[in-house]
Formats: sequence, structure tokens, C-alpha cells
Amino acid sequence: MFYTVLHQLVDPRNIGMIIRSHVAFGGKGFIFSGYDPPYKFSKKNKAYSRSLEKHCIAQQFAKSDDLFEWLKNEDIKSVAIEITKEAVLLPEFVFPEKCAIIFGKESGGLPDELIEKCDYVVKIPQFGNIGSMNVAISASIVMYELNRNNKDIKDVDNKMYSYS
Ligand SMILES: C[S@@+](CC[C@H](N)C(=O)[O-])C[C@H]1O[C@@H](n2cnc3c(N)ncnc32)[C@H](O)[C@@H]1O
Repeated sequence: MFYTVLHQLVDPRNIGMIIRSHVAFGGKGFIFSGYDPPYKFSKKNKAYSRSLEKHCIAQQFAKSDDLFEWLKNEDIKSVAIEITKEAVLLPEFVFPEKCAIIFGKESGGLPDELIEKCDYVVKIPQFGNIGSMNVAISASIVMYELNRNNKDIKDVDNKMYSYS
């Protein structure tokens, strides 16, 4: 079971696409972290999310301390998805049964203080001459990998959502 946490992402297209992948990969809660005032969905979000946010249990935490307290109370392990020297490579990482995957903003990524509070840090191996990947693409790769060994996976139920 996984939760998706977006920390201060800005681009409505990225947020919309991540929601779409979150639903497609069977995510549970969708969490906005570090938004004060709370994040509001725009028309542009909905165009990219296909309005799938209505299928997510969405939560907001203005302060990361409150997010981590909630995760602890719910017994959810925090997994920062970020490029750091010490991060575990994604193909080698075994995801905890109940985890929150945490993504950073388009410019700047996750702050060090937040990464330090996480139980794990995981990075996607990159081979080309590039600093980082787009955050929505990163999220889809991580969600796919997270589900890869999930025996409960069912085939796409295209009666449930209309998609294009
Ligand atoms: C565009 S990156 C941030 C880029 C960069 N750190 C900067 O200084 O602008 C935004 C987010 O995408 C995710 N990301 C991108 N490439 C990644 C990779 N190879 N491994 C893990 N996370 C990645 C991380 O969550 C990161 O916080």
C-alpha cells in the first residue's frame, strides 16, 4: 500500500500527471506537503489528472513536522525519492509494505531537512548526461517499480474510469 506525497510542487501539469499515475498504480492517500494556504486544484490540474483527484483521499500538511507525525502514527514508512550520494538505487530497494513516496519540487527538489527525517532515500539510476528527470516521469517509474512484485495486481479495469 502506498501514499504519494508532493512537497511544494508548482507545475499543475506535473501534479495532474502524478495524480493520474497514482490512481493508475493503485495508490491510497495523496498528500500535499508544505503548502500554506492549502493547494487548490485548477482547471489545468484537472486537464492533466483527468479529474482523477476525486478518487484520491487527499490530505494537506503545511508543516513537514506534522506530516511526519501523521506518518508515524499511521505506521507508514517515509521514502524520499531524491538524488543524493547515499540514496539506494531503485532496482535494489525493497519497498516497505506501507510506505509514503515523497517527491520534491521542480526547481530545487526536496530540502535536506526533510530528507533527513525520512526512513529511506531512493534514487532512480540515470545513465545519460543529465542532472535529473522530470518529477512526474520519476513518480511513474517509482510507482511501477513499487508494484512490480505485487501479486495482487489486477488487469486494467477500463469500465471503472474513462481514459484516453
Ligand atoms: C526536477 S527534480 C529537482 C531537480 C534538482 N534537484 C534541482 O536542483 O532543481 C524534481 C524531483 O524529481 C525527482 N527526481 C528527478 N530525477 C530523479 C532521480 N533520478 N532519482 C530520484 N528522484 C528524482 C525528485 O523527487 C526531485 O525532487
